[in-house]
Amino acid sequence: MKALVLSGGSGTRLRPFSHSMPKQLIPVANKPVLDYVLENIRDIGIRDVGIVSGDRIDHIGAAVGDGSRFGLDITLLRQDAPRGLAHAVLVARDFLGDDDFVMYLGDNMLLPGIEDAAAAFRQDRPAAQVLVHKVPDPRAFGVAELAPDGSVQRLVEKPREPRSDLALIGVYFFTPAIHDAIAAIGPSARGELEITDAIQELLDRGAFVKAVEYDGYWKDTGEVADVLECNRKVLSDMQGRVEGHVDEHSRLSGDVVIGPGARVVRSRITGPAVIGAGSLIEDSQISAYTSIGADCVLSGTSLGDSIVLDGARLSGVSDIVGSLIGRAATVAAAPVNAEGHRIVIGDHAGVEVAA
Ligand code: DAU
Repeated sequence: MKALVLSGGSGTRLRPFSHSMPKQLIPVANKPVLDYVLENIRDIGIRDVGIVSGDRIDHIGAAVGDGSRFGLDITLLRQDAPRGLAHAVLVARDFLGDDDFVMYLGDNMLLPGIEDAAAAFRQDRPAAQVLVHKVPDPRAFGVAELAPDGSVQRLVEKPREPRSDLALIGVYFFTPAIHDAIAAIGPSARGELEITDAIQELLDRGAFVKAVEYDGYWKDTGEVADVLECNRKVLSDMQGRVEGHVDEHSRLSGDVVIGPGARVVRSRITGPAVIGAGSLIEDSQISAYTSIGADCVLSGTSLGDSIVLDGARLSGVSDIVGSLIGRAATVAAAPVNAEGHRIVIGDHAGVEVAA
Protein backbone atom coordinates (compact mmCIF):
# COMPACT_ATOMS: atom_id res chain seq x y z
CA MET A 1 0.00 0.00 0.00
CA LYS A 2 1.19 3.52 -0.83
CA ALA A 3 0.18 6.99 0.36
CA LEU A 4 -0.64 10.10 -1.61
CA VAL A 5 -0.49 13.38 0.29
CA LEU A 6 -2.09 16.45 -1.26
CA SER A 7 -0.11 19.56 -0.48
CA GLY A 8 -0.99 21.85 -3.35
CA GLY A 9 -4.05 24.07 -3.49
CA SER A 10 -4.26 27.82 -3.31
CA GLY A 11 -4.71 28.35 0.44
CA THR A 12 -6.77 31.51 -0.08
CA ARG A 13 -8.45 31.16 3.32
CA LEU A 14 -5.05 31.20 5.04
CA ARG A 15 -3.78 34.41 3.51
CA PRO A 16 -1.45 36.15 4.10
CA PHE A 17 0.47 33.07 5.36
CA SER A 18 -0.17 31.14 2.19
CA HIS A 19 1.50 33.96 0.19
CA SER A 20 4.86 33.01 1.61
CA MET A 21 4.54 29.36 2.62
CA PRO A 22 2.37 26.38 1.67
CA LYS A 23 -0.47 26.15 4.21
CA GLN A 24 0.54 22.57 5.01
CA LEU A 25 3.76 23.93 6.56
CA ILE A 26 2.04 26.22 9.07
CA PRO A 27 3.26 25.13 12.50
CA VAL A 28 0.99 23.75 15.19
CA ALA A 29 2.83 23.53 18.54
CA ASN A 30 5.98 24.35 16.56
CA LYS A 31 5.64 21.44 14.12
CA PRO A 32 4.30 21.77 10.55
CA VAL A 33 0.86 20.26 9.94
CA LEU A 34 2.46 18.14 7.18
CA ASP A 35 4.75 16.44 9.75
CA TYR A 36 1.71 15.19 11.70
CA VAL A 37 0.29 13.84 8.42
CA LEU A 38 3.51 11.99 7.51
CA GLU A 39 3.86 10.54 11.01
CA ASN A 40 0.32 9.14 10.86
CA ILE A 41 1.11 7.56 7.49
CA ARG A 42 4.32 5.99 8.77
CA ASP A 43 2.43 4.62 11.77
CA ILE A 44 0.21 2.48 9.50
CA GLY A 45 3.28 0.78 8.06
CA ILE A 46 3.46 2.60 4.71
CA ARG A 47 6.86 3.53 3.29
CA ASP A 48 6.23 4.91 -0.21
CA VAL A 49 4.64 8.35 -0.12
CA GLY A 50 3.93 10.65 -3.06
CA ILE A 51 3.37 14.32 -2.22
CA VAL A 52 1.45 16.36 -4.78
CA SER A 53 2.15 20.07 -4.81
CA GLY A 54 2.05 23.02 -7.20
CA ASP A 55 4.12 26.20 -7.36
CA ARG A 56 5.36 25.68 -3.80
CA ILE A 57 6.77 22.22 -4.46
CA ASP A 58 10.30 23.41 -3.65
CA HIS A 59 9.19 24.59 -0.19
CA ILE A 60 7.58 21.22 0.45
CA GLY A 61 10.68 19.38 -0.80
CA ALA A 62 12.96 21.48 1.42
CA ALA A 63 10.76 20.76 4.45
CA VAL A 64 10.39 16.99 4.07
CA GLY A 65 13.61 16.05 2.22
CA ASP A 66 13.66 12.47 0.95
CA GLY A 67 11.46 11.39 3.87
CA SER A 68 14.18 9.46 5.73
CA ARG A 69 13.66 11.71 8.76
CA PHE A 70 10.20 10.13 9.05
CA GLY A 71 11.25 6.63 7.96
CA LEU A 72 9.57 7.21 4.57
CA ASP A 73 10.54 7.30 0.90
CA ILE A 74 9.04 10.49 -0.48
CA THR A 75 8.45 11.25 -4.16
CA LEU A 76 7.39 14.79 -5.09
CA LEU A 77 4.74 15.04 -7.81
CA ARG A 78 4.01 18.36 -9.48
CA GLN A 79 0.46 19.49 -10.24
CA ASP A 80 0.42 22.43 -12.67
CA ALA A 81 -2.60 24.08 -10.98
CA PRO A 82 -5.11 23.15 -8.27
CA ARG A 83 -7.50 21.32 -10.58
CA GLY A 84 -9.13 19.21 -7.89
CA LEU A 85 -8.45 16.30 -5.57
CA ALA A 86 -9.20 13.69 -8.26
CA HIS A 87 -6.87 15.55 -10.65
CA ALA A 88 -4.11 15.11 -8.06
CA VAL A 89 -4.68 11.33 -8.27
CA LEU A 90 -4.35 11.57 -12.07
CA VAL A 91 -1.04 13.39 -11.63
CA ALA A 92 0.14 10.54 -9.41
CA ARG A 93 -1.08 7.75 -11.72
CA ASP A 94 2.39 6.35 -12.56
CA PHE A 95 3.61 6.65 -8.97
CA LEU A 96 0.55 4.77 -7.65
CA GLY A 97 0.69 1.93 -10.21
CA ASP A 98 -1.78 -0.80 -9.29
CA ASP A 99 -1.33 -0.48 -5.54
CA ASP A 100 -4.00 0.28 -2.98
CA PHE A 101 -3.37 3.68 -1.44
CA VAL A 102 -4.44 6.10 1.25
CA MET A 103 -5.04 9.64 0.01
CA TYR A 104 -4.44 12.15 2.78
CA LEU A 105 -5.17 15.87 2.48
CA GLY A 106 -2.05 17.61 3.77
CA ASP A 107 -3.98 20.20 5.80
CA ASN A 108 -6.01 17.68 7.83
CA MET A 109 -5.02 16.98 11.42
CA LEU A 110 -6.16 13.65 12.90
CA LEU A 111 -4.54 13.49 16.29
CA PRO A 112 -5.04 9.90 17.40
CA GLY A 113 -3.80 8.74 13.99
CA ILE A 114 -5.45 6.46 11.42
CA GLU A 115 -4.47 2.97 12.58
CA ASP A 116 -8.03 1.74 13.22
CA ALA A 117 -9.21 3.10 9.87
CA ALA A 118 -6.32 1.40 8.04
CA ALA A 119 -7.08 -1.90 9.80
CA ALA A 120 -10.75 -1.64 8.78
CA PHE A 121 -9.76 -1.06 5.13
CA ARG A 122 -7.23 -3.89 5.09
CA GLN A 123 -9.76 -6.29 6.62
CA ASP A 124 -12.64 -5.71 4.14
CA ARG A 125 -10.81 -4.16 1.18
CA PRO A 126 -13.85 -2.26 -0.18
CA ALA A 127 -13.39 -0.43 -3.52
CA ALA A 128 -13.04 2.73 -1.44
CA GLN A 129 -13.29 3.67 2.21
CA VAL A 130 -14.06 7.16 3.52
CA LEU A 131 -13.84 8.49 7.06
CA VAL A 132 -16.74 10.53 8.37
CA HIS A 133 -17.17 12.72 11.41
CA LYS A 134 -20.36 14.26 12.82
CA VAL A 135 -20.25 18.06 12.70
CA PRO A 136 -22.93 20.62 13.58
CA ASP A 137 -22.70 22.34 10.18
CA PRO A 138 -21.28 20.20 7.37
CA ARG A 139 -21.85 22.72 4.54
CA ALA A 140 -18.12 23.43 4.18
CA PHE A 141 -17.32 19.74 3.60
CA GLY A 142 -18.15 16.74 1.48
CA VAL A 143 -21.23 15.15 3.05
CA ALA A 144 -21.98 11.41 3.18
CA GLU A 145 -25.36 9.70 3.30
CA LEU A 146 -25.09 6.19 4.69
CA ALA A 147 -27.22 3.06 4.48
CA PRO A 148 -28.15 1.36 7.77
CA ASP A 149 -25.28 -1.16 7.27
CA GLY A 150 -22.74 1.71 7.22
CA SER A 151 -22.08 1.59 3.49
CA VAL A 152 -22.08 4.89 1.58
CA GLN A 153 -25.18 5.64 -0.49
CA ARG A 154 -24.42 9.12 -1.73
CA LEU A 155 -21.70 11.77 -1.44
CA VAL A 156 -22.21 15.46 -2.15
CA GLU A 157 -19.46 18.10 -2.12
CA LYS A 158 -20.30 21.16 0.03
CA PRO A 159 -24.10 20.93 -0.30
CA ARG A 160 -26.21 24.00 0.52
CA GLU A 161 -28.73 21.76 2.23
CA PRO A 162 -26.89 18.78 3.71
CA ARG A 163 -28.93 15.60 4.08
CA SER A 164 -26.79 14.28 6.95
CA ASP A 165 -24.42 15.66 9.58
CA LEU A 166 -21.55 13.42 8.45
CA ALA A 167 -18.64 15.42 7.05
CA LEU A 168 -16.01 13.70 4.93
CA ILE A 169 -12.61 13.77 6.56
CA GLY A 170 -9.68 14.31 4.20
CA VAL A 171 -8.39 10.71 4.44
CA TYR A 172 -9.57 8.20 1.85
CA PHE A 173 -8.54 4.60 1.21
CA PHE A 174 -8.66 3.38 -2.38
CA THR A 175 -8.14 0.28 -4.47
CA PRO A 176 -6.97 0.90 -8.07
CA ALA A 177 -10.68 0.84 -9.08
CA ILE A 178 -10.68 4.58 -8.40
CA HIS A 179 -8.56 5.28 -11.51
CA ASP A 180 -11.29 4.13 -13.95
CA ALA A 181 -13.86 6.12 -12.00
CA ILE A 182 -11.71 9.28 -12.25
CA ALA A 183 -11.30 8.73 -15.99
CA ALA A 184 -15.10 8.71 -16.30
CA ILE A 185 -15.89 12.02 -14.55
CA GLY A 186 -15.69 15.61 -15.76
CA PRO A 187 -15.01 18.87 -13.92
CA SER A 188 -17.61 20.10 -11.42
CA ALA A 189 -19.41 23.46 -11.49
CA ARG A 190 -16.36 25.03 -9.76
CA GLY A 191 -14.13 23.61 -12.50
CA GLU A 192 -12.39 20.92 -10.41
CA LEU A 193 -12.17 17.16 -10.77
CA GLU A 194 -13.81 16.21 -7.48
CA ILE A 195 -12.86 13.07 -5.60
CA THR A 196 -16.43 12.96 -4.24
CA ASP A 197 -17.68 12.67 -7.86
CA ALA A 198 -15.21 9.84 -8.54
CA ILE A 199 -16.38 7.96 -5.44
CA GLN A 200 -19.99 8.61 -6.46
CA GLU A 201 -19.08 7.10 -9.85
CA LEU A 202 -17.84 3.96 -8.04
CA LEU A 203 -21.17 3.80 -6.20
CA ASP A 204 -23.13 4.24 -9.44
CA ARG A 205 -21.20 1.29 -10.84
CA GLY A 206 -22.38 -0.81 -7.90
CA ALA A 207 -19.05 -0.89 -6.04
CA PHE A 208 -18.93 -1.21 -2.25
CA VAL A 209 -17.80 2.01 -0.60
CA LYS A 210 -17.42 1.78 3.13
CA ALA A 211 -17.69 4.60 5.68
CA VAL A 212 -15.85 4.46 8.97
CA GLU A 213 -16.89 6.92 11.64
CA TYR A 214 -13.84 8.63 13.12
CA ASP A 215 -14.49 9.85 16.63
CA GLY A 216 -10.99 11.12 17.48
CA TYR A 217 -9.92 14.75 17.17
CA TRP A 218 -10.05 15.95 13.54
CA LYS A 219 -9.52 19.42 12.13
CA ASP A 220 -9.23 20.78 8.60
CA THR A 221 -6.74 23.58 9.25
CA GLY A 222 -8.16 25.69 6.43
CA GLU A 223 -8.56 28.91 8.41
CA VAL A 224 -6.67 30.80 11.11
CA ALA A 225 -9.28 29.97 13.78
CA ASP A 226 -8.85 26.25 12.98
CA VAL A 227 -5.06 26.46 13.26
CA LEU A 228 -5.36 28.17 16.66
CA GLU A 229 -7.88 25.61 17.88
CA CYS A 230 -5.61 22.78 16.80
CA ASN A 231 -2.68 24.45 18.52
CA ARG A 232 -4.67 24.55 21.79
CA LYS A 233 -5.51 20.87 21.46
CA VAL A 234 -1.95 19.69 20.69
CA LEU A 235 -0.46 21.86 23.45
CA SER A 236 -2.92 20.57 26.01
CA ASP A 237 -1.64 17.01 25.37
CA MET A 238 2.03 18.01 25.70
CA GLN A 239 4.38 17.31 28.61
CA GLY A 240 6.55 20.17 29.85
CA ARG A 241 10.37 20.04 29.62
CA VAL A 242 13.15 22.58 29.88
CA GLU A 243 16.08 22.25 27.46
CA GLY A 244 16.98 25.94 27.49
CA HIS A 245 17.63 28.30 30.39
CA VAL A 246 15.13 29.84 32.79
CA ASP A 247 16.58 32.48 35.13
CA GLU A 248 15.82 32.67 38.85
CA HIS A 249 13.46 35.65 38.37
CA SER A 250 11.19 33.74 36.03
CA ARG A 251 8.35 31.38 36.79
CA LEU A 252 6.89 28.55 34.73
CA SER A 253 3.58 26.97 35.66
CA GLY A 254 1.72 24.13 33.97
CA ASP A 255 3.27 22.22 31.06
CA VAL A 256 5.84 24.44 29.39
CA VAL A 257 8.38 23.30 26.79
CA ILE A 258 11.51 25.44 26.57
CA GLY A 259 13.53 24.45 23.50
CA PRO A 260 17.31 24.09 23.32
CA GLY A 261 19.15 27.40 23.54
CA ALA A 262 16.00 29.35 24.45
CA ARG A 263 16.29 31.83 27.34
CA VAL A 264 13.58 33.02 29.71
CA VAL A 265 14.53 36.12 31.66
CA ARG A 266 12.37 37.91 34.32
CA SER A 267 9.26 36.41 32.72
CA ARG A 268 6.26 34.33 33.60
CA ILE A 269 4.97 31.53 31.39
CA THR A 270 1.74 29.69 32.04
CA GLY A 271 1.37 26.41 30.18
CA PRO A 272 0.50 24.71 28.09
CA ALA A 273 2.98 26.62 25.99
CA VAL A 274 6.06 25.99 23.89
CA ILE A 275 9.06 28.25 23.30
CA GLY A 276 11.17 27.31 20.28
CA ALA A 277 14.93 26.81 20.13
CA GLY A 278 17.06 29.93 20.42
CA SER A 279 14.23 32.30 21.37
CA LEU A 280 14.58 34.99 24.03
CA ILE A 281 11.65 35.85 26.31
CA GLU A 282 12.42 38.77 28.63
CA ASP A 283 10.26 40.88 30.95
CA SER A 284 7.25 39.21 29.39
CA GLN A 285 4.18 37.29 30.34
CA ILE A 286 3.07 34.38 28.19
CA SER A 287 -0.22 32.75 29.00
CA ALA A 288 -1.73 29.41 28.07
CA TYR A 289 -2.06 27.92 24.57
CA THR A 290 0.83 29.82 23.05
CA SER A 291 3.49 28.51 20.66
CA ILE A 292 6.54 30.66 20.05
CA GLY A 293 8.73 29.49 17.16
CA ALA A 294 12.53 29.39 16.94
CA ASP A 295 14.78 32.46 17.21
CA CYS A 296 12.04 34.87 18.29
CA VAL A 297 12.60 37.80 20.65
CA LEU A 298 9.79 38.88 22.98
CA SER A 299 10.48 41.68 25.39
CA GLY A 300 8.11 43.56 27.67
CA THR A 301 5.23 41.76 26.01
CA SER A 302 2.14 39.91 27.20
CA LEU A 303 0.59 37.37 24.91
CA GLY A 304 -1.66 34.30 25.06
CA ASP A 305 -3.60 31.82 22.90
CA SER A 306 -1.41 32.59 19.89
CA ILE A 307 1.13 31.24 17.44
CA VAL A 308 4.31 33.18 16.67
CA LEU A 309 6.40 31.93 13.78
CA ASP A 310 10.20 31.73 13.63
CA GLY A 311 12.24 34.90 13.90
CA ALA A 312 9.39 37.23 14.92
CA ARG A 313 10.09 40.09 17.34
CA LEU A 314 7.56 41.55 19.77
CA SER A 315 8.42 44.36 22.13
CA GLY A 316 6.47 46.52 24.55
CA VAL A 317 3.04 45.26 23.52
CA SER A 318 0.38 43.90 25.87
CA ASP A 319 -2.70 41.75 25.65
CA ILE A 320 -2.00 40.06 22.32
CA VAL A 321 -4.52 37.21 22.06
CA GLY A 322 -5.85 34.82 19.42
CA SER A 323 -3.10 35.89 17.02
CA LEU A 324 -0.98 34.29 14.33
CA ILE A 325 2.22 36.26 13.74
CA GLY A 326 4.30 35.45 10.68
CA ARG A 327 7.97 34.68 10.21
CA ALA A 328 10.33 37.54 11.09
CA ALA A 329 7.36 39.89 11.61
CA THR A 330 7.73 42.69 14.15
CA VAL A 331 5.12 44.04 16.55
CA ALA A 332 6.36 46.92 18.69
CA ALA A 333 5.07 49.70 20.91
CA ALA A 334 4.97 53.11 19.24
CA PRO A 335 7.42 55.73 20.51
CA VAL A 336 6.13 58.08 23.23
CA ASN A 337 4.40 61.07 21.54
CA ALA A 338 3.41 58.94 18.54
CA GLU A 339 0.33 60.38 16.85
CA GLY A 340 -1.32 57.01 16.37
CA HIS A 341 -0.79 53.40 15.38
CA ARG A 342 1.66 52.93 12.54
CA ILE A 343 1.06 49.73 10.62
CA VAL A 344 3.16 48.20 7.83
CA ILE A 345 1.53 44.95 6.77
CA GLY A 346 1.50 42.88 3.62
CA ASP A 347 -1.32 41.90 1.29
CA HIS A 348 -4.37 40.16 2.74
CA ALA A 349 -3.14 40.55 6.32
CA GLY A 350 -5.63 41.30 9.11
CA VAL A 351 -5.13 43.46 12.20
CA GLU A 352 -7.68 44.12 14.97
CA VAL A 353 -6.79 47.01 17.25
CA ALA A 354 -8.66 47.13 20.58
CA ALA A 355 -10.45 50.46 20.99
O1 DAU B 1 -10.98 18.59 4.92
C1 DAU B 1 -11.96 17.76 4.43
C2 DAU B 1 -12.57 18.29 3.14
O2 DAU B 1 -11.48 18.44 2.20
C3 DAU B 1 -13.63 17.31 2.60
O3 DAU B 1 -14.76 17.28 3.46
C4 DAU B 1 -14.07 17.73 1.21
O4 DAU B 1 -14.96 16.76 0.70
C5 DAU B 1 -12.84 17.85 0.30
O5 DAU B 1 -13.20 18.29 -1.00
C6 DAU B 1 -11.83 18.82 0.88
O6 DAU B 1 -12.42 20.14 0.88
P1 DAU B 1 -11.54 21.47 1.00
O7 DAU B 1 -12.32 22.61 0.46
O8 DAU B 1 -11.05 21.61 2.39
O9 DAU B 1 -10.33 21.19 0.02
P2 DAU B 1 -9.06 22.09 -0.26
O10 DAU B 1 -9.27 22.83 -1.53
O11 DAU B 1 -8.70 22.86 0.98
O12 DAU B 1 -7.93 21.02 -0.54
C7 DAU B 1 -7.62 20.02 0.40
C8 DAU B 1 -6.11 19.72 0.34
O13 DAU B 1 -5.72 19.25 -0.96
C9 DAU B 1 -5.20 20.92 0.62
O14 DAU B 1 -4.09 20.44 1.39
C10 DAU B 1 -4.76 21.39 -0.73
C11 DAU B 1 -4.72 20.11 -1.54
N1 DAU B 1 -5.06 20.26 -2.97
C12 DAU B 1 -6.28 20.77 -3.32
C13 DAU B 1 -6.65 20.87 -4.66
C14 DAU B 1 -8.01 21.41 -5.04
C15 DAU B 1 -4.17 19.83 -3.95
O15 DAU B 1 -3.05 19.37 -3.61
N2 DAU B 1 -4.51 19.95 -5.26
C16 DAU B 1 -5.73 20.43 -5.66
O16 DAU B 1 -5.99 20.50 -6.88
